[in-house]
Amino acid sequence: MTDVLNDVRDHYRASGLRARLTATLMALGPDDALLAPQQLASLDQFHSRGLAATAELGELIGIRADMRVLDIGSGIGGPARFLAAAHGCSVVGIDLSEPFVDAACYLTERTGQTARVSFETGSALDLPFDRGQFDVALLQHVAMNIADRPRLYDNIRRVLKLGGKFATYDVVLKNGDSHYPVPWARTSATSFLMTADATREAIESAGFRTLMSRDDSDAAKAWITQLRASGAPPSPNLGVVMGPDFLEFTTNLGKNLMQDRLGVMTAVFEAV
Ligand SMILES: C[S@@+](CC[C@H](N)C(=O)[O-])C[C@H]1O[C@@H](n2cnc3c(N)ncnc32)[C@H](O)[C@@H]1O
Repeated sequence: MTDVLNDVRDHYRASGLRARLTATLMALGPDDALLAPQQLASLDQFHSRGLAATAELGELIGIRADMRVLDIGSGIGGPARFLAAAHGCSVVGIDLSEPFVDAACYLTERTGQTARVSFETGSALDLPFDRGQFDVALLQHVAMNIADRPRLYDNIRRVLKLGGKFATYDVVLKNGDSHYPVPWARTSATSFLMTADATREAIESAGFRTLMSRDDSDAAKAWITQLRASGAPPSPNLGVVMGPDFLEFTTNLGKNLMQDRLGVMTAVFEAV
């Protein structure tokens, strides 16, 4: 594994995460009672606009029950669990962070979804799957941690069937340098932001056709405005996963969005 990949992994190391989650979830009921995926949404959707963004993406892609979905950089598994519950599809998640994968497996046991949702540790730059295995690939707030975009998008194209869909929902560069730390990086050493145009170009070069692409920066700003107005974050929240600095990470993300330094793009592509 390269130094950069190791540094990214360190950012998401989250030691003692399963124990913290177990303690936090006691507020939702006894540990032998099944939870609904939506009950975890304030702590397991690790991207701007949370569950609403995942739900929208599922609709935009048109996920069906007979589809096999790959969630790349699946975090602690919130998007995978929600999409499986909402659309009846099966989802495989892959993530660089072992503690995140362990937490994702634990939470999926708690929601009773292990028959349809699974997770493994691995790199998006070396996806451990054969060619043409998936109908859909999903990348939500992950690309900004990845410098080698051609290799990332080539990997995604390889594991998708011809005609398969690739949806990306990511933070993009707009007009200037970012304030750090942000939720995905403490410094610019592990942050590899690209503009929306450059992102689309890199994806198309890997063998994709753009089906839709839009600038969701205004929606992200509205979300930040709402967070600021509501005062204390809902509980439980992503601080359980990322620690007490998460508030500062989110505050800086908000500043970057509001000052148009960074934006958010949503796009869906077809493998050609
Ligand atoms: C901001 S979180 C988003 C998690 C999830 N997609 C979500 O929206 O809830 C970014 C995730 O990408 C993962 N990640 C970053 N670089 C990766 C890589 N090269 N391969 C696999 N996962 C990666 C991190 O470990 C982390 O879980």
